[in-house]
Amino acid sequence: MAALRRALLAKGAHRALAGTLASSCLADRSLWDRLHAQPHPGKVPTFDWFFGYEEIQGLLLPLLRDAQAAHPLRVLDVGCGTSNLCTGLYTQSSHPVDVLGVDFSPVAVAHMNRLLEGSQGQAPLCPGHPASRLRFTQADALNLKPVADSGSFQLVLDKGTWDAVARAGLPRADQLLSECLRVLSPKGTLIQFSDEDPDVRLPCLEQRSLGRTVTMQELGPFRGITYFAYLVKGSH
Ligand SMILES: C[S@@+](CC[C@H](N)C(=O)[O-])C[C@H]1O[C@@H](n2cnc3c(N)ncnc32)[C@H](O)[C@@H]1O
Repeated sequence: MAALRRALLAKGAHRALAGTLASSCLADRSLWDRLHAQPHPGKVPTFDWFFGYEEIQGLLLPLLRDAQAAHPLRVLDVGCGTSNLCTGLYTQSSHPVDVLGVDFSPVAVAHMNRLLEGSQGQAPLCPGHPASRLRFTQADALNLKPVADSGSFQLVLDKGTWDAVARAGLPRADQLLSECLRVLSPKGTLIQFSDEDPDVRLPCLEQRSLGRTVTMQELGPFRGITYFAYLVKGSH
């Protein structure tokens, strides 16, 4: 969670807000709205917790290549915020992808839709494959039923969202995991990106992933911090 607080400060959140967010209120939507409304540092239109698309494209693109059965491949980013994960996949993947970013913050979703459609003199984003799609919608990741059918995504991404939701208690984090697994196709992969230690996260995921295979890859260090990708794969 030290990485989360550092990210909050990097985003320009003043210390009091970063302190509040990093302690106990990360389930509070209004706090996230305030944070997502802060201007992005520099001219970069996106802001990423932990690290961005560039740092993990080497992990993501081979997964898309290997799972070519479904065209286009459906990808869900839960708690997408204003990260460049969805936009990176949409603009850089040479395999067709149908990417959905969901966040409960309307501020984050509106920001990403403006970026997608092009605004303030910026051109709309161009897909890396003509059949690729990208959408952002407001939804509670603890109840994805209004936006995602069971078994409908080949890849589900969670970068920092479990970490945020778990601050409000493990039952909520369990509900998030259970929704991610519900919408995952039988052979699909859920990836949680986090700075949480494998000694803590792996047993937690293994207990709750019901017959799926859980593995871990070390990432980084990025700006001096080691991160982890926790992969939960269907075995059927
Ligand atoms: C630590 S930030 C990570 C944002 C983004 N994934 C990234 O890597 O930059 C957590 C995100 O989860 C969102 N979030 C928290 N609880 C949520 C919930 N119950 N449903 C949907 N989004 C949620 C917040 O608005 C925030 O954008």
